[in-house]
Amino acid sequence: MSNKDTVGKTIRVALALCIVCSVLVSAAAVILKPAQEANVQEDRQRNILAAAGLLEAGVPVSEQFANITARAVDLDSGAFIEDVDADIFDQLAAAKDPAQSGRLDSETDTAKIGRRENVGLVYIVGDANEPETVIIPVRGAGLWGQMYGFLALESDIETIAGIGFYEHKETPGLGGEVDNPRWKSLWPGKSAFRGDEVAIEVIKGSVDRESPTAAYKVDGLSGATLTTRGVSNLVQFWLGDDGYGPFLSSLKAGEA
Ligand SMILES: Cc1cc2nc3c(=O)[nH]c(=O)nc-3n(C[C@H](O)[C@H](O)[C@H](O)COP(=O)(O)O)c2cc1C
Repeated sequence: MSNKDTVGKTIRVALALCIVCSVLVSAAAVILKPAQEANVQEDRQRNILAAAGLLEAGVPVSEQFANITARAVDLDSGAFIEDVDADIFDQLAAAKDPAQSGRLDSETDTAKIGRRENVGLVYIVGDANEPETVIIPVRGAGLWGQMYGFLALESDIETIAGIGFYEHKETPGLGGEVDNPRWKSLWPGKSAFRGDEVAIEVIKGSVDRESPTAAYKVDGLSGATLTTRGVSNLVQFWLGDDGYGPFLSSLKAGEA
């Protein structure tokens, strides 16, 4: 063994290598953090635009999002909240925080989300008092896990403008068909409410187009009745009294 190969020297080289590597990894994490956050933000904006059917290819997402304002809403009262910064508020984190959410009992928890946050976000296209489109986040259980998406309503706060899921664990070709553009195209123009009641539902099978209730029904996903039921339940939950119902009623009445 030459005197270069001492145990002490080996440990010193290994330590020096560890320090250099950890500095490099930490520096990369710090330097890339703003870019990562910008990507997360852009991805969320893209999902919101896509759900509302507003996403245009070839136009920067931030430019398309310029006409959309995020607002925080007290889900119980339905009123806008001014002291929460909607651009940084993390609704899903709030849903896990006992100080910012409440446990739902099994009768109420039709979407199977466990806890519901006190404050929710809404995305308003155009003027907040007379929105062109209102987009709400929705989530709930599918067959294999929680499905996360957005539902958009037109200015009458009744007609559905679109729906889209950005995260789910459903099986490709079965429940995963929630991402199929052909199925998503069945939603725009459907009516969410009949009077004050949530009426929209996703049914097993195909909607009879001649039926007087066809406007409130969407075809189910074939071979995926459980995902279909999950989508129906979560949409009804978030449009209902325990979701964004109070806010949507206030908005309709011009009182939000
Ligand atoms: C491997 C596998 C994956 C499945 N994935 C889904 C799914 O993502 N969503 C769903 O509703 N059903 C899924 N199913 C089918 C359900 O177990 C159930 O049979 C189905 O929801 C019944 O729907 P149908 O009445 O339309 O046939 C899956 C079944 C298997 C064997």
